[in-house]
Amino acid sequence: MKRLAFSLALLCLTLGAAAQVTAGTAKFKVGDQPAWSNPAFDDSAWQTLSLDKDWTMQGIRNPNNFAWYRIHVVIPSSLKKAAVTSGMVLLDLGPVDDADETWFNGQPVGKTGHFPADPEGFSGNWQKPRHYLVSPRQVRWDKDNVIAVRVYNGGDPGGFYQREVRIGEPELANLAELTVGAENGKARIVLTSRTKLSGELRLETTDVLTDTQTGSETRRVRIVPGKETVVTVPIQDGNRLSAIYYDDRFDDLIAGSYSAPYILTPQAPATPRYNGPLVFGVRPGSPVIFRLAFSGDKPMKYAVEGLPAGVKLDPDKGVLSGSVAEAGDYPLVLIARNEKGEARAEFTLKVGAKIALTPPMGWNSWNCWGLSVSQEKVMSSATALINRGLADYGYAYMNIDDAWEAEERAPDGSIVTNEKFPDIKGLADWLHANGLKMGIYSSPGDRTCGGYLGTIGHEQQDAETWNAWGVDYLKYDWCGYSKVFNADPDKSVAAYVRPYLKMQQYLRQQPRDIFYSLCQYGMADVWKWGHAVDANSWRTTGDITDTWASLYNIGFQRQTELYPYAGPGHWNDPDMLVVGKVGWSNSLRDSRLTPDEQYTHISLWALLAANMLIGCDMAQMDDFTFNLLCNNEVNAVNQDILGIQAHRDVEEDGFQIWSRPLADGTLAVGIFNLNDSSAHVDLAGCLAKIGLEDVKNVRDLWRQKDIPASTCIIPSHGVRLLKVRR
Ligand code: GLA
Repeated sequence: MKRLAFSLALLCLTLGAAAQVTAGTAKFKVGDQPAWSNPAFDDSAWQTLSLDKDWTMQGIRNPNNFAWYRIHVVIPSSLKKAAVTSGMVLLDLGPVDDADETWFNGQPVGKTGHFPADPEGFSGNWQKPRHYLVSPRQVRWDKDNVIAVRVYNGGDPGGFYQREVRIGEPELANLAELTVGAENGKARIVLTSRTKLSGELRLETTDVLTDTQTGSETRRVRIVPGKETVVTVPIQDGNRLSAIYYDDRFDDLIAGSYSAPYILTPQAPATPRYNGPLVFGVRPGSPVIFRLAFSGDKPMKYAVEGLPAGVKLDPDKGVLSGSVAEAGDYPLVLIARNEKGEARAEFTLKVGAKIALTPPMGWNSWNCWGLSVSQEKVMSSATALINRGLADYGYAYMNIDDAWEAEERAPDGSIVTNEKFPDIKGLADWLHANGLKMGIYSSPGDRTCGGYLGTIGHEQQDAETWNAWGVDYLKYDWCGYSKVFNADPDKSVAAYVRPYLKMQQYLRQQPRDIFYSLCQYGMADVWKWGHAVDANSWRTTGDITDTWASLYNIGFQRQTELYPYAGPGHWNDPDMLVVGKVGWSNSLRDSRLTPDEQYTHISLWALLAANMLIGCDMAQMDDFTFNLLCNNEVNAVNQDILGIQAHRDVEEDGFQIWSRPLADGTLAVGIFNLNDSSAHVDLAGCLAKIGLEDVKNVRDLWRQKDIPASTCIIPSHGVRLLKVRR
């Protein structure tokens, strides 16, 4: 592996930067007219926008609509020689939010995503950099050239947002693509190119858990435009295949890799086993909605000892309902029986002012379905939550994110759902009957981030409507409120608190417990005042995505100082989980995180006492993802009743050690290898670094096994999650 990394670095150094010219601004207009692709069109009256900020940030609101950019650029003839030699000129537009169609000097050159009127229906691709190729003959050398870009935006923000446009000589990576995935237990390498190529494909497999090479080979390959060159190779669980294509003509390479999942969680026993939280908080008089989380063979019969008056149990479903008038701690024994045996768990029902005594566990529609969420999709994931057994591990909230709202309010001003949610009350009733809870999303502004109606001026009415529907969780997202904020000279912390205080007042007047989830990306150190608006959690950062860079930034870099602010009833929220099939749209794909990055993700969220909201389509959940989300010993760290968020104790040479004390007197310890290569790690040495010498017992929580504190291998971006008894 080392040798491979070295040769890669060397090549990158010796390759000079390709000749190019850039443009940082464009003429811009909202609307859609075919004539705007014509280079001769007079756009001098259009406004000028910068290409490194989305149009929303530049004061334009244009959700679910078209707008055009016309980028003018003089291409110097000094680029001509290189362009003629490679036969192509690259228009590197960077990413565009969401779908675009592009013309160069009046000729169509490419399209990414689909528009609403396309037969496929709308699908955007806001993260993909647009690389369009034109022939040197299409260029007007030393003269004005016009790149006309027709953009469809499926919800603000929209348009160009990252950087300037680059025009020049293409590199191999702009012409050819190498992807590695899996199919029927084999790794599948796919090479495509927009020009004829030939070169060498080098393949190497490594077992990540033992850090040993398990195979290597080199093949000659040809790539023809319009055709996929496919190579498949067998791959074992826990192996990483790295593929590098070296091209003869370009003397350059493209590379990709695929890591096959491996399951660490041991299979749950057939006998009943309790996996849920050990406390549950409810306010006096509020509905109790709680599902007993026992794994094991079904059917099961449930019983509860010590139930207070007013609460009843459905003995077949294991669902508690009713309400308790008197505040107090009610010790219960939760019992489940099946053909194989019985399990009992000591539990406390805490009736009092506090809810969310452990971090919320459940699902949210955003990371999978984005704005395409529908009642049907929520039902399908809820059904899978029960049938697949995730409900047996305490996952209970089914949260609908943005895009449930109708275009307009009802004549009486009340908020209504759009056609995708024909019966939201029915959905809530069904969830409640199964011991699950329903969450909803809105904004204190006039619009949500997706461009849907927000609550402004209707806060009380909306809180009452949600209560009538049976909402148990509100994610309240700043977004459109920035208009109110920007118009007000007051920029004190109070100005950030104001909209959340207002909704708190109305939410808490409702006769049911509504988890109050603040979403304003951490502005004004929300963790310092979130509890003052009775929030149950607050997002600490911007949106997460399924890349290592995002996970690293949000999970590791942005959480280190936040541990003092979390505790029973109020949690830091580093955003939803990015494991399983995600996509933020109608088209889903497997999370791009490697299996080790996913173990790191869940371990870290457990240590951070973070909201555990699954972001994938549960109806399509594979065994790896299920086992990742349903390891009872790992989840017990997240749900520990002390609610103490982990502290980062060590950061050294790309390793981090985080730990948190648990209610049983032990310590949960995560040792993370954030390096790009795997490492041999001396566990005793790591524990000594955090003051844990001569420990009585070390348990590997993923493997659910006591282990010696000796040397072990931690794969790149991977973790050892331990429970240590002093
Ligand atoms: C913001 C939030 C996301 C999601 C979207 C919905 O980006 O941070 O989590 O709710 O809005 O539009």
